[in-house]
Amino acid sequence: MADESSITMDVRETFEGKTSVITGAASGIGEGIARVAAEAGMKVVLADVAEERLQRVVKDIRSAGGDAIGVVTDVTDRDAIENLADVAEDRYGEITLAVNNAGIESIGFSWEIDPATWDRVIDINLRGVIHGTRSFARRMISRGTEGFIANLSSVGGLGIMPTQTPYIMSKHAILSFSECVYLEMQFAEHPIHVSAVLPSSVRTRIFDEALTDRNSGFTEGQRVRMAQAIEHGLTIEEAGRRILAGIAARQFWVSTEPEATAAFAAQRARYLEELRPPALTQEMRYLLGE
Ligand SMILES: NC(=O)c1ccc[n+]([C@@H]2O[C@H](COP(=O)([O-])OP(=O)(O)OC[C@H]3O[C@@H](n4cnc5c(N)ncnc54)[C@H](O)[C@@H]3O)[C@@H](O)[C@H]2O)c1
Repeated sequence: MADESSITMDVRETFEGKTSVITGAASGIGEGIARVAAEAGMKVVLADVAEERLQRVVKDIRSAGGDAIGVVTDVTDRDAIENLADVAEDRYGEITLAVNNAGIESIGFSWEIDPATWDRVIDINLRGVIHGTRSFARRMISRGTEGFIANLSSVGGLGIMPTQTPYIMSKHAILSFSECVYLEMQFAEHPIHVSAVLPSSVRTRIFDEALTDRNSGFTEGQRVRMAQAIEHGLTIEEAGRRILAGIAARQFWVSTEPEATAAFAAQRARYLEELRPPALTQEMRYLLGE
């Protein structure tokens, strides 16, 4: 469990006693945020398609003294998201924090990845975030009190990576979507903070499924390197603490490794400034198993 002493005052002052809804919360970063939010005194509504894992995490949070429920939800289904918000409000009242976190990976050449996988990545990673933002934003706006919406992009949303094309594309789209919604809230003068979350490496199950799809043209070397890339990442609790702290601080860009993210963004800015053509870097070649 997260170390309670490391939950900042900012997080407690902003969120204690309030309600959060987190999608994709039965594993990984969503689970980490849920655990930390519960320790900070939030009432937590965890949503996921994986019922068994979901109930396990809910049970764990409760036995640690947290207040949580699980609602089986497929984020690609707009009605299911409305139901999630209804259940959360019926149980705990107004929702202060919504984290649109559910996301999946896919590995392989764009032309080899099958159409169903392409659709699934776009439906979960992008449409899921849009459905969640629309539903929770409308509810928060009609209430008129301060609200927080955090959308999970990735440092990959600032860069490019061959053989992760559907994923990278979805993470870029989440950034521009979140930037525009942030400005819409400003223009319409609603007290809703929008954050784009850019995790670096976090130890989760995100590659488990993607790396078992062996029809997409990736090599064994790549499989090993991809798995290693997150093996040395942050724990889910540490990622959850950093992310919740950034959201509570009302940051738009929420990073798990701010210095590395800033350096990465600067590199991307230079590339765009000079309008260089895309080029395979040594790091890409390494991740591609060379
Ligand atoms: N792990 C990392 O290093 C990393 C880095 C950058 C960004 N991210 C982003 O963080 C988010 C969480 O990823 P993670 O690494 O914790 O992965 P994860 O696979 O551990 O967790 C994702 C969860 O989403 C759930 N999910 C999948 N499809 C769903 C659907 N249709 N509806 C509801 N839930 C669904 C899964 O069951 C799973 O519990 C993703 O958006 C991912 O892109 C992760």
